Amino acid sequence: MVDIKNVVVVGAGQMGHGIAQMSLLAGYNVTLVDINDDFVNKGWSKIDEGMKKLETKGSLPEGATAAGLMANCKKSSNLASAVKDADIMIEAVVEKMDVKKQVFKTAGDNAPANCILASNTSTMSITDIGKDSGRPDKCIGMHFFNPVPLMRLIEVIHSNNSSDDSVNKGIEFAETIPCLRGKRYVPKVLKDRPGFICNRVTAPAQIYQNYVFDKAAAEGLSWDQLDNDGLGGPMSMTVLADYVGIDVLYHGQMYYSQTLSPDFAPGKVITQMFNEGNLGAKTGQGFRDWTKGRPSPDKSAGKAKLYQLKYPLAIMLNEACRVLEEGIATSWKVIDDTLMAGMNMPGPMASNQKTYQRQVDVLEELVELTGKEYFKPCEMLKSGKWVEMK
Ligand code: CAA
Repeated sequence: MVDIKNVVVVGAGQMGHGIAQMSLLAGYNVTLVDINDDFVNKGWSKIDEGMKKLETKGSLPEGATAAGLMANCKKSSNLASAVKDADIMIEAVVEKMDVKKQVFKTAGDNAPANCILASNTSTMSITDIGKDSGRPDKCIGMHFFNPVPLMRLIEVIHSNNSSDDSVNKGIEFAETIPCLRGKRYVPKVLKDRPGFICNRVTAPAQIYQNYVFDKAAAEGLSWDQLDNDGLGGPMSMTVLADYVGIDVLYHGQMYYSQTLSPDFAPGKVITQMFNEGNLGAKTGQGFRDWTKGRPSPDKSAGKAKLYQLKYPLAIMLNEACRVLEEGIATSWKVIDDTLMAGMNMPGPMASNQKTYQRQVDVLEELVELTGKEYFKPCEMLKSGKWVEMK
């Protein structure tokens, strides 16, 4: 068992409370931290609700009770004192670099010297986040997927400054965190590049989605019609966008537009929803109304005939090849397994071993259609060298 007892989770929102709940189930002492008591109490209550649900089903670890586990969950709105005896801190606050850096600085100034500082950022540089922490060698990425209790993936990211020891400790810890649906998959992300593996591979599909959202809005098509075009995963396109959070998408796209290509800039539809505070499931309104629970597209609305699945499939294959090209991962099998564990959808690589030349043509066609240069097929894809990288 990894040498960790006390876990501090900073940010009691959707990701933070999920991480805290699963850490409690693993048997750790957890302190849940946020900027005020109200946020902490809301997160704590959601964990309590989840634990009670598991108790009712008889799914808690042997001998454990919901009340007993919740007694191991402290609450705090003071990060400096919360980390005083922490062995690991996991930050899951808003996707803003300055806020994350401040969390790492405060934790670095106050936590014991051997405490690991991990960020759950979905896009941003761990190297930058940990820069002012006073312990950049102890800073790593630990990227969970939403919903944390049900998605098997935890990416552990090696920053430019992380020590191998810190990364290995992060991996060992992540492997102890249970998942309600199967065994955790914990790939090591070898380079600190935007979006790491899973989000990086799927990110440019958002450029195409923005194109489609904006075109659908301009043509007066409904979100039901667009969703009926089919996304190829377990949730429809607009429901998944709302579920992830419009703010998460907006901040992510802004970050990618500054670090990867201006083509990632948020589209009109996403920008408008973000500005109006319609952030999806968390605010009750995004593309969809969530006030009565998770919405389902109206199948009778017909199709928009706008979204074509062949494009995101080619886009993901191209981006997965860039992940190999940049040395973020060294095996296409790891990329496929990462996609399955993080998004419950097959990765793009196993199925394209013999057909990738066709995808090159699809990408050229997409550049023509959208004017987005980022979709150009990369050398790794065109050369077919990636097929050997198993
Ligand atoms: N505690 C206890 N029980 C819980 C729980 C919790 N915290 N959360 C869920 N459960 C239970 C539910 O009560 C339910 O129990 P029953 O079966 O007894 O009713 C069970 O777990 C399953 O829950 P759901 O019914 O909600 O699950 P589902 O079958 O509808 O599947 C889903 C939901 C897994 C989310 C599926 O729709 C899916 O895979 N969607 C795709 C999600 C995805 O792509 N996520 C990645 C987003 S990207 C990301 O996260 C990266 C980022 O950086 C932003």
